[in-house]
Amino acid sequence: MVVAKIAPSLLSSDFACLAQECERMLELGADYLHMDVMDGHFVPNLTLGAPIIKCLRPHTKGFLDCHLMVSHPEQWVDDFASAGADLFCFHIEATEDAATLIDRIHAKGMKAGMAVKPKTPIDVVYPFASKLDQVLVMTVEPGFGGQAFMPECMQKVADLRSKFPDIDIQVDGGLDPDNIGVAAKAGANVIVAGSSIFKANSPGEVISLFRKTVDEAQAAM
Ligand code: DX5
Ligand code: ZN
Repeated sequence: MVVAKIAPSLLSSDFACLAQECERMLELGADYLHMDVMDGHFVPNLTLGAPIIKCLRPHTKGFLDCHLMVSHPEQWVDDFASAGADLFCFHIEATEDAATLIDRIHAKGMKAGMAVKPKTPIDVVYPFASKLDQVLVMTVEPGFGGQAFMPECMQKVADLRSKFPDIDIQVDGGLDPDNIGVAAKAGANVIVAGSSIFKANSPGEVISLFRKTVDEAQAAM
């Protein structure tokens, strides 16, 4: 059985005070701090890179879950490792040699995650699953916060969960209190959420609800 891990997406935070936003989320019960790294090529948006992780690292003990929406992710492994990233998640669509990349991520002391876009079939992950620490099933087209959750991606989560009962399955995009039940029932246990946490009147309550829903669904499996 896997446990719930809640990962607020810092893309929706106030970048002007990122370190305080990280601490605020951890105090409210967050398990991971989800950092969206975009290169303006793999996705039509541009965010932050290893220098920001390096700057943030001394200010937080939080687990930095880095989601790289970039082409050629292999070129950033060393930089993210020395900057202090805890998990390096790359897109299968962005690399030609995922097996070598996973080994390099582990050799640098980080956990390795593999992400799939909504239209990518989940079976591409299967050959690598035993080496991965986490699989990210995107529930929106990557690139922007605030998009609508795609329920059609839940079959991929269910298929992955039935084959790999112990792997961390992360979902990312449009997660909120209305659809967390569907995601949890399908088998997702690592919940990324930007808008629904940061825009909530009570972000701590949203984090608690996500955790309770996931843990109850896991207990019922
Ligand atoms: C989108 C990013 C997400 C995004 C989620 O490509 O990977 O992490 O921040 O934001 P919400 O929860 O607002 O959809
Ligand atoms: Zn993300």
